[in-house]
Amino acid sequence: MTESRAPIRGLEGVVAAETRLCDLDGAGGRLAYRGYDIGDLARRATFEEVAALLWDGELPDRARLDRLRGDLAAARAVPAALVETFRLMPPGADPMRALQAAVAVLGLHDPDAGDNSRAANLRKAARLTSQIATAICAHHRIRSGREPVAPAADLDHAANMLYMLTGRRPAPAAARAFDASLTLYAEHELNASTFTTRVIASTQSDLHSAVAGGVGALKGPLHGGAGEAVMRTLLEIGEVANVDRFVAEALATRRRLMGFGHRVYRAGDPRAAILRGLAEEACRQSGQFKWYEMAAALHERIQRAKGLIPNVDFYSAPLFYSLGIPLDLFTPVIAAGRIAGWTANIIEQHDDNRLIRPRGDYRGPGRREFVPLDQR
Ligand code: CMC
Repeated sequence: MTESRAPIRGLEGVVAAETRLCDLDGAGGRLAYRGYDIGDLARRATFEEVAALLWDGELPDRARLDRLRGDLAAARAVPAALVETFRLMPPGADPMRALQAAVAVLGLHDPDAGDNSRAANLRKAARLTSQIATAICAHHRIRSGREPVAPAADLDHAANMLYMLTGRRPAPAAARAFDASLTLYAEHELNASTFTTRVIASTQSDLHSAVAGGVGALKGPLHGGAGEAVMRTLLEIGEVANVDRFVAEALATRRRLMGFGHRVYRAGDPRAAILRGLAEEACRQSGQFKWYEMAAALHERIQRAKGLIPNVDFYSAPLFYSLGIPLDLFTPVIAAGRIAGWTANIIEQHDDNRLIRPRGDYRGPGRREFVPLDQR
């Protein structure tokens, strides 16, 4: 066993697993899933094809895709007990907390819950991908005093999710943009939430437990929670004319700017470039082009002043906003995409498992005599 005693803060630069899922070139600003460039996948494949690619290792042929689409559609209904659970939650419940609880409840009802075989994990991955979308929408409808919208059998995964959220069938361009954003969020190597799922999977715990942990990690503002924070920043700025004043103040107060910077990408996040185009189009379609203009102006000023690049969560904020997604559902929506990657990573971890158990560098007091309570 080799042991390095010097801690590496934030595990920066540490390679913690072999993976065949995601090829992330931070210096070159490039990203591929199983060898396929992210731009090709976002523009030319559906989220269902991308999920199959991550789970199976290859792009699906027509028969595999039809089978998967059937499995996903069949799994859309969630147990009535979950809907009841949502009704029992406090009205102001954070949707990410509700989602984490929902994943645990879905585990209680899943017939394969305790089976860690590859076949069972693949079944659970598809089921949970479908059910998470339904759960997010059902919780949102219930907290808004409305009944959940029953899934539409004829709609693809992304379009159906927008439909269950809003109760309206999305325009084809909106459904396509949403589908592409699920693909862009589907996988990203050992980010904090995916690493969390791998740590949990490495104890031979089960897929639902690992995904529930991943949801908890994704919730934080330094990870998936950044998208919502970006939109709150844009709303705070309010108008394009206010961007310069906002930037001057942000620089003077050394404010952390959400949606900027990345631990791995230094030259640029390739997902942000694609999302920028999608956001521009969606903001134009929604009649609220100012959110795109404001984001583009902020991007240009901040990059020029601080050299910080916009990350995946920057342009997804005006995109999601103009698709009518409520602010506090941005992170759950990211989870609805990332579930494909989380589950693929859990399967990969189980395929070649070794318990993930690093060491700590102890800096506390030396050994000392125990002091009984009445002498302290
Ligand atoms: N705003 C202002 N300054 C920043 C930012 C930012 N967003 N990001 C980095 N910096 C500065 C930071 O202050 C530090 O400067 P100095 O060395 O002078 O103190 C330097 O850049 C290095 O920052 P760091 O926090 O040590 O870098 P990191 O690799 O730990 O941070 C990060 C990566 C994503 C946590 C960080 O860039 C950040 O907090 N960004 C805002 C939150 C965000 O957008 N998160 C989404 C990340 S991408 C999607 C995802 O993971 O889900």
